[in-house]
Amino acid sequence: MGRPAGKPTGIFITLEGGEGSGKTTQARRLCERLTAQGLDVLHTREPGGTLLAERLRSILLDNSGETIAPETEAYLIFAARRQHVDHVIKPALARGMTVVCDRFSDSTMAYQGYGRGLDLRALRTMNDWATGKLAPQLTLLFDVPVSVGLRRRRGGAATQNRLDRETERFHRKVRAGFHALARREPRRIIVINSAQSLESVTQTVEELVMTRLKTYPTRTSKRR
Ligand code: TMP
Repeated sequence: MGRPAGKPTGIFITLEGGEGSGKTTQARRLCERLTAQGLDVLHTREPGGTLLAERLRSILLDNSGETIAPETEAYLIFAARRQHVDHVIKPALARGMTVVCDRFSDSTMAYQGYGRGLDLRALRTMNDWATGKLAPQLTLLFDVPVSVGLRRRRGGAATQNRLDRETERFHRKVRAGFHALARREPRRIIVINSAQSLESVTQTVEELVMTRLKTYPTRTSKRR
């Protein structure tokens, strides 16, 4: 029997972590693996994923503008999230797709809540409002010591954005925040030691996701 009309049928997986945690590479690899398994996969990211949300992302990550208040930062992120959820994520889930999203609500709790110090309860309420309470079934948290992550990030080719440039102390608070979120929801948020080699992390992710997928009642092959 199908699920009630209007309820999402696909699986929603998010990847989270601090700067230089390798989650973006792992997201790409995971999508390739799931596609090879015959799943219909949508790879997306936050902030972003729609035209407007990507424009908000540029504003959020831009180094050159005026100072952005933590509250303004949060509002921009929630505005982008609502667009993304309504226009991309929910429709894909409704079509039975597996959605892999590089960052989602946990990043807001970690960065704006634990990092910036905004009230966690207020953020949760606003986030529920922005997502319509849509939450991932599975979240992979790529964990790496802050010094290692920042070295990777700052040594790499990618230009530094406004948040990369934050102090090490800020990024330590973000990491501690992610750990607190994982302790709160251990079934949904799985912590992966991302200081291992790229290949070991990829293997860990694949095994974990494949095992978890078997527990979800969903389509296992592409739509015809
Ligand atoms: P990234 O996609 O390269 O990791 O960059 C996105 C940046 O946006 C990253 O520094 C974390 C930040 N961010 C927040 O501060 N709050 C959020 O809710 C999200 C989704 C991202």
